[in-house]
Amino acid sequence: MKIRSPIVSVLGHVDHGKTTLLDNIRGTAIAHKEAGGITQHIGATEIPIKVIEEICKGLLEKYSIQRIIPGLLFIDTPGHEAFTTLRKRGGSLADLAILIVDINEGFKPQTYEALNILKMYKTPFVVAANKIDKIRGWKAHKNSSFLETFEKQVPKVQQSLETKIYELVGSLHEEGFNAERFDRVTDFTSQVSIVPISALTGEGIPELLTLLIGLAQQYLKDQLTIESDSPAKGTILEVKEEKGLGTTLDAIIYDGVLKQNDKIVLLTLEDVVVTRIRSLLKPKPLEEIRESKTEFKRVKEVVAASGVKIVAPGVKDVIPGSPLRVAKDENLEDIRNEIRKE
Ligand code: GTP
Ligand code: NA
Ligand code: MG
Repeated sequence: MKIRSPIVSVLGHVDHGKTTLLDNIRGTAIAHKEAGGITQHIGATEIPIKVIEEICKGLLEKYSIQRIIPGLLFIDTPGHEAFTTLRKRGGSLADLAILIVDINEGFKPQTYEALNILKMYKTPFVVAANKIDKIRGWKAHKNSSFLETFEKQVPKVQQSLETKIYELVGSLHEEGFNAERFDRVTDFTSQVSIVPISALTGEGIPELLTLLIGLAQQYLKDQLTIESDSPAKGTILEVKEEKGLGTTLDAIIYDGVLKQNDKIVLLTLEDVVVTRIRSLLKPKPLEEIRESKTEFKRVKEVVAASGVKIVAPGVKDVIPGSPLRVAKDENLEDIRNEIRKE
């Protein structure tokens, strides 16, 4: 038995700051490199607990949060209205989610759409009220905890933030959620926490990550307990041509172990394909799977939860969003039938 990393999907309206938030956590700058600054793919990034501890700077200790999970596996989704399918895929995979809202803009069409996806899958989530650095008169304190930077703002600025937070509380209330600023939440199972952050300055990110770790360990432990040596289960994020590799599959493995040479069963529009894994590729640590074209490292196996690129023959018709299962000779027919029903 093993506790795996929770899969955390980041959802929200276009340009409200999903990729920038992950860039801040990773210490990368992917958002700048995207065409038109618009995310058009779904990406996965593993953040080890060590990195999270560094960002949280003592908050885990302060709130007596143990470190049981090995990290967080983040899924970035596009906010542009054209990509509903990718948002749903991100939502369906998530153990937990961050609903990101530009605090100065409030709820927008894809914020509601994302919220409906979370409702549909009953995914626990926190709201990140982003871009607090753009509040008029805000004095930024880079990478500071929200409560520290908030204390240092003049009363008028504090009031302005509170007003904007209560607008979010109102929007969430209309959608049937009881929400509060995270430090006023009394019951994390029935209330939604709102964490004011700036993805640009890093303010509030210590609390956002602390909250995710705490929630995951307190409420999702059963769901995160897996057999680390059982055959893998996963979901195909994207089916992609890669130079020199042919058609590859970007996948999220949420249970068990996936090994080179494993026989995998996948869905196509026609039927089921059975193929053998030629190689497994991982992005470098803290890099995103969709960005690391030349930087992949071959690995013999991956254990859940992981994002991995799979090279295998005969996968070009596999349906993005469909399941992946490992089969042994003795249970191949069962797995075939199981996967047809999904
Ligand atoms: P899509 O993936 O296209 O839906 O957008 P996104 O939600 O990933 O937003 P993205 O990270 O691309 O950010 C959009 C713009 O907002 C960029 O210019 C960012 O630099 C800016 N931005 C994001 N977060 C912040 C923030 O906290 N403060 C400020 N001032 N700007 C931010
Ligand atoms: Na964007
Ligand atoms: Mg983005």
